Amino acid sequence: MAIGIGLLGLGTVGAGVAEILTSPEGRHPLVGELALRRVAVRDLTRPRPVALDPALLSTDPEVVVDDPAVEIVVEVLGGLEPARSLILRAIAAGKPVVTANKAVIARYGEEIAAAAAAKGVYVLIEAAVGGGIPIIEPLKQSLGGNRIRRVSGIINGTTNYILSRMADEGAAYADVLADAQRLGYAEADPAADVEGHDAADKIAILAGLAYGGPVPRSGIATEGINRLDARDVAYAAQLGYVVKLLAVAERVELPAPSTAPGGIVHLDVRVHPTLLPRHHPLAGVHGVNNAILVEGDPVGEVMFYGPGAGAGPTASAVVADILNIAGIRQVGGAEAGLDPLLAASSWRRCALVDGSLTCHRNYVRFQTRDEAGVIGRIGTCFGAAGVSIQSIVQLEGKDSAAEIVVITHEVQEARFREALAAIEALGEVSMVAACLRTL
Ligand SMILES: NC(=O)c1ccc[n+]([C@@H]2O[C@H](COP(=O)([O-])OP(=O)(O)OC[C@H]3O[C@@H](n4cnc5c(N)ncnc54)[C@H](OP(=O)(O)O)[C@@H]3O)[C@@H](O)[C@H]2O)c1
Repeated sequence: MAIGIGLLGLGTVGAGVAEILTSPEGRHPLVGELALRRVAVRDLTRPRPVALDPALLSTDPEVVVDDPAVEIVVEVLGGLEPARSLILRAIAAGKPVVTANKAVIARYGEEIAAAAAAKGVYVLIEAAVGGGIPIIEPLKQSLGGNRIRRVSGIINGTTNYILSRMADEGAAYADVLADAQRLGYAEADPAADVEGHDAADKIAILAGLAYGGPVPRSGIATEGINRLDARDVAYAAQLGYVVKLLAVAERVELPAPSTAPGGIVHLDVRVHPTLLPRHHPLAGVHGVNNAILVEGDPVGEVMFYGPGAGAGPTASAVVADILNIAGIRQVGGAEAGLDPLLAASSWRRCALVDGSLTCHRNYVRFQTRDEAGVIGRIGTCFGAAGVSIQSIVQLEGKDSAAEIVVITHEVQEARFREALAAIEALGEVSMVAACLRTL
């Protein structure tokens, strides 16, 4: 018996999903049992890359969700509304949902998971992070026995493409962005990508799964690559580093353990341009590819790598979720219980720690007067705040100015800021020109 699929959206991802569903040859036999029953679009006249019976298309997505022939709803519309309401509508009707929508899941994941649990239906989100890379199910299931120390990743292909070209060509950010837009690698409005918000949505989802509880999306410290200077990419290379936009979720041990049931896990979750040592596993991830490094006890380091976006890779993840749901239905019929590992479930609370208490290594570039003793006075300010320095070098600046680049050892953010304030007050220092995290 065919399983009816309702597709909300026939854009980049939706067309990729329709392509797989209408060409089952050579794929898993269950693909042949999935029948595309209805498809929601905004514009019925727009040409589509996949040939579908025009009678399947509707401009009313609620009609698609409500159609009795639709048993699984696939949401690939994008945006917050009406996507969120349509997902909840499907759940209320007892229909499982597959979505690629990281923006909705990062903000309303808790509401959606609670509604799904109450109704006993699945909401699967493999395509929401990392495109074609399987990372959601591995975090939920395959790595479930671990104590996760850190999840870090390059999870935005657009910014990784821009940074790769800045490093390879020494090109300026604005020039590479314009080129990326022309080539279709960056949106006309690139803000969500270049300001880091897309990566913040995704790390919120990954952290929630890795640590077992929802992470407050609005509390994630986010800095994009839009203010990154090509000089810092070049200086980083001279010092043996590669600059990447990294999204990181890390467990922080606080002195007083929580007494809450299930415990509270304290996390440092952030997105920012980061200097990676050239031989770090994530430093070799180039172009639009994504990679996620999971560090856990006892597994050690596991890295997931591959195409982070695009019609085919993202549809691959969407269809895998549909097959998971279809397979469970086939095995257990209507009586099949909810598989707790496959379902999104929370068993703990996650709290974000105050950023000033977290510890990091830093890269900082000062513009100073080119005169004797400046390096010494900068070093003294760092020392007085208890910041230990790994390297300090003077690089050639323009006219009578000098550029001094410092890489610190790991230090508490509050102490580092205290040192920066003291250095900025020195007469011979004209500005803190750049400040980046270093792994
Ligand atoms: N693109 C990727 O590589 C990628 C990767 C991972 C995750 N995602 C996620 O997947 C989702 C879809 O992305 P996409 O790139 O496929 O977007 P897209 O190309 O803009 O497609 C959106 C589709 O939804 C339809 N649509 C939008 N609002 C609608 C409404 N109110 N009623 C009916 N139809 C509506 C559009 O119809 P028309 O075609 O008629 O305009 C279009 O077919 C997003 O959540 C995105 O974040 C995308």
